[in-house]
Amino acid sequence: MTAHVAMRLNGLPQPATIAMAQRARALRAEGADIISLALGEPDFPSPSEAVEAAAAAGRAGDTRYPPIAGQPALRAAIVEKFRTQNGLDFLPEQILVANGGKQIIFDAFMATIDPGDEVIVPAPYWVSYPIIAQMMGGVSVPVICREDDGFRLRADALRAAITPRTRWLVLNFPNNPSGAIMERADLEAVAQVLRDHPQLWVMADEIYEHLTFDDRKHVSLAAIAPDLGDRILTVNGMAKAYAMTGWRVGFAGGPLSLIQAMTNIQSNATSGVCTLAQAGSVAALQSPFERVVSMRQTYQARRDRVVAALRDMPGVTCAMPDGAFYAYPGFAALIGKRTPGGRVIDSDVAFAEALLEEAHVAAVPGAAFGMSPHIRLSVAASDDQLAEACRRMARFVASLD
Ligand SMILES: Cc1ncc(COP(=O)(O)O)c(C=O)c1O
Repeated sequence: MTAHVAMRLNGLPQPATIAMAQRARALRAEGADIISLALGEPDFPSPSEAVEAAAAAGRAGDTRYPPIAGQPALRAAIVEKFRTQNGLDFLPEQILVANGGKQIIFDAFMATIDPGDEVIVPAPYWVSYPIIAQMMGGVSVPVICREDDGFRLRADALRAAITPRTRWLVLNFPNNPSGAIMERADLEAVAQVLRDHPQLWVMADEIYEHLTFDDRKHVSLAAIAPDLGDRILTVNGMAKAYAMTGWRVGFAGGPLSLIQAMTNIQSNATSGVCTLAQAGSVAALQSPFERVVSMRQTYQARRDRVVAALRDMPGVTCAMPDGAFYAYPGFAALIGKRTPGGRVIDSDVAFAEALLEEAHVAAVPGAAFGMSPHIRLSVAASDDQLAEACRRMARFVASLD
């Protein structure tokens, strides 16, 4: 017998986003001038109101174990946020605060997935849903959202994927990595399918809700289908809209039974979230919304420039993202080509590796998001970095033989 890790970790990958960022960091440490567009992390400072409120909370002695599900002030601020921004009415008991949106997803899957249960994940998808489902013994079932259909989930594709073992549908719009959003009519069609399948939970991960472009507005599934409210978990967090990734505050509103089960898991795993981070989150949620609007405008301008540059590269296609802060270009026409360094581009993994090693731009291969051949580029970087990354990528693409 040797000391070993659990079988449940067999074959469990590290998220490709994090692996790529680490590879970029290692090359940088060796002296290479790397531009990393691999991580989905806002490049803005957190709101000063949040920083000051967290410091004040510390000075005031707000440093004891908090209630597991969240501080009353933060749960109240989240109730208010859901009411005014999403048209959703929750009681404070229906709100759970966690260590990031990621822990909310972890809690929800742990609370509901039995071995062999299926989780429908529209592809392309954020890397962590299938991995977390797999950790619980679940099986993720990708449903392709076609690029020429704006990467939206279609009701007939959803219907065809549902089996008696389906436990969850994950709806992440605006989508990471494609930037797609679902219009009201798209969501209504999905809701109609869900009505025929009462055994499904629905995770509406709306963490990019405020990052929508060209005056488009995000619509919450739970607002247009209140009859499904006892099955919808609406997930959100401070990371993206408020540039508070390091604070680790995510939250969800949902049916009481599910929230209680998730709280129970948290009480045995991590207890409540850092009190100072919660105080900062209350202040951020109550801070002037213009700051969020201004970040959105900046992301939109960057998106415009990056997508235009990508579309100018021969062999590269790029759908216009309607939200979030990524571009998800495809390059089917470049498969089979050779780089100046002698690498053959036989997949998006090979493309991303060559782009990093030979052009010093870090991006994440589409294989990690369930749709190839694509790469995901984050536009949450400075204008100079984005312009230089686009120049390097254009030179790299032009050099392929
Ligand atoms: C779609 C989506 N959901 C949830 C999260 C989790 O965010 P956090 O745990 O930082 O709150 C992320 C982070 O990248 C994301 O892209």
